[in-house]
Order: sequence, then structure tokens, then C-alpha cells
Amino acid sequence: MATERWVSATKQPTDLPDPPHGLDPGTDPSLGNALRPTRLDEYIGQAELKERLRIAIEAAKSRSEPLDHLLLHGPPGLGKTTLAHVVASEMGASVKVTSGPALTKGTDLVGALTRLEANDVLFIDEIHRLPVAVEEFIYPAMEDLRIDIAVDAGVHARTVTVTLKPFTLIGATTRAGLLSSPLRSRFGLTHNLNYYEPGELLDILCRSAGLLSISAERDALERVALRSRGTPRIANRLLRRVRDYAQVRTGGVISATTVDEALALEGVDEIGLDEIDRRYLTTIHKTYQGGPVGLEALAATMGEDAGTLADVVEPFLLQRGLVARTTRGRELTKDGTDRVRKVIAGEVWT
Ligand code: ADE
Repeated sequence: MATERWVSATKQPTDLPDPPHGLDPGTDPSLGNALRPTRLDEYIGQAELKERLRIAIEAAKSRSEPLDHLLLHGPPGLGKTTLAHVVASEMGASVKVTSGPALTKGTDLVGALTRLEANDVLFIDEIHRLPVAVEEFIYPAMEDLRIDIAVDAGVHARTVTVTLKPFTLIGATTRAGLLSSPLRSRFGLTHNLNYYEPGELLDILCRSAGLLSISAERDALERVALRSRGTPRIANRLLRRVRDYAQVRTGGVISATTVDEALALEGVDEIGLDEIDRRYLTTIHKTYQGGPVGLEALAATMGEDAGTLADVVEPFLLQRGLVARTTRGRELTKDGTDRVRKVIAGEVWT
């Protein structure tokens, strides 16, 4: 499988804040290709999605067709980009990676699509940020494998039609709600990625430790898994931090105590919350008396970007039952309030 990253797949440096939790959907080196599974059988977790993909891929291959267009949504770090590589590999095709913000003009998309070989995968990360003008080109491309390009103006105006080779578009988004319904309806397969169970994260960590030649006790990796917020990318990042710590402080021994010490240094508490999570919870508690508070007001008080809070910070806190989203805004739950009290009492890092 060939991978070509020929359109900038990373964010525009000026329009996105620094990602918390070390999460940069495009460039986090801890996700490095070395740790990325390339086949469905190597991919751990997301059992339902894998089963759906196995069937769809086998059927498409037996008809010598590309896989139907696939929309993946869910919080960052759960493996959307990895899955695009896996799908391409299973199809015996290449993947070309780009992102919504990188495709600024219709011609960017034309360039991207015309460079695809038959049955290749075009992966568009952050597809909810695709400009409207580009989105319009994508409809006939997805449906009829053609792009209509207007040339000249006035009395000379005419349309040139470019025919495309069969391809699969894989769109990834953290915000399915922001996708227009015409775009959403053109995906034949849609799947929401869920957070991983601790046991699945442990399996991923064991696999990564093997690939990185890290020898660690199983209960040490279990502790990393429990602090990884259900997210493989975070698990692999924390594993590297623990490896560094062990190398410098414990002669390479990775025990449960090593993990506790290394992750305390990283500001990651025993349930995986880090500095920005704790600040989110304590701001609602201290400034807004537990809420409800609107997202924009909360973001302004914290000096953070509202989109980052909504995409990256809140999903795990909601899933963990520490905050609730109501029509009047965000509110701490009883567990959320208990957690803040522990933070204030110094029982977890501040
Ligand atoms: N590395 C990161 N995510 C993974 C996954 N889901 N399965 C195997 N290895 C991974």
C-alpha cells in the first residue's frame, strides 16, 4: 500500500489553537506510522465497525468496485486516519490524505481527485470544515465520477466535464452535526467511533510496547490504559513518556510505580484527566457555581477556544459523567463536583 501525503493534511497554523492532551489529529508523532496497524486483523477494538467493513470490502472486491464512500465520526485520536490506511490496504489501493481546511478552492479538489488511481481512497480529515464552494464539486464526483468545471465567462462561458476513476471518499469529522445533509447523505457507510475499553487499550499498549521494544510489566501497562481516556493516541503518547521516565530514572524498569510517577509528572491523574480537564471542571465550579454555563462564556473565562473544548475536552468528560450538557449550558454532575472537591483538596494534581 502506498501512502502519499500530497496535499497539506495539517491545520492552517493560524486558525487552530494548540491541541490539548497532545492531540493533533494530523501530526501527532506518537501516532507514528510505526504503531499504525495496516490490516483489519491487526486493528484492535471497534468490533462492529470492523465487521461492517469486512463485509463491505469483501463484497466490493468481488465486484471489482471501490468501497462505498465512508464517513467516520467521533472524538480525535480514536483511529479515523488509521482506518483510512487500513481500508486502502485491504482494497489493495493507495490512500491520499488531505483535510477540509486544506482544500480552499474547487480546483484543489479537482487536483486531488484527478490524481487518484482506480479504487484509491481519498481521505478528507475535518470534512466539516470543507468550504461550501468545494463541497459543490464533490457531489457529482461522489455520485457520478465527474466534475463539472466552468471555464470562461460571459458569452464564452461553458462547462468542461472531467471524468474520474472509481474511488472511495473517506471523510472524518469530530462534528458530524456540522456536516450539511446533502454531503452526509452521499456516504453509503457511516460510523461513529466509540471510546475504547481499558482492555482494548491494554491490548493496543502491549502491541505498541512490542513494536517499540519496550519491556513493561502487564499491571504497569494496565495503569497506562486506565489513564488514556479511552483513546489509543493518548495511550501511545503516555507509553512513550513512561518509557522516557523509566530510561532516565529507573534503569529502564517499567513497573506500576514507574507509571504512577511518570504520569504524575505529566499532570495526568488516576482517571486520565489532565490540566485542561481539571481547569474546565474547576472553572464551572468556582466561577459559575457548578453551572449551567454556556460554552462560549466558559471558553472565554478559561482563555481557550470553544471549538477545542467542544471537540476535544468535553466528549470524554461527558462520557465519564462528570459534566452534563443541558439546554441552558454545561453543568457539573455530582461526580464532577466530587472530582473538583478532590482537586481543590489537593488529592489530585492541580
Ligand atoms: N494503534 C493505535 N490504534 C490502534 C488500534 N486500534 N489497533 C492496533 N494498534 C493501534
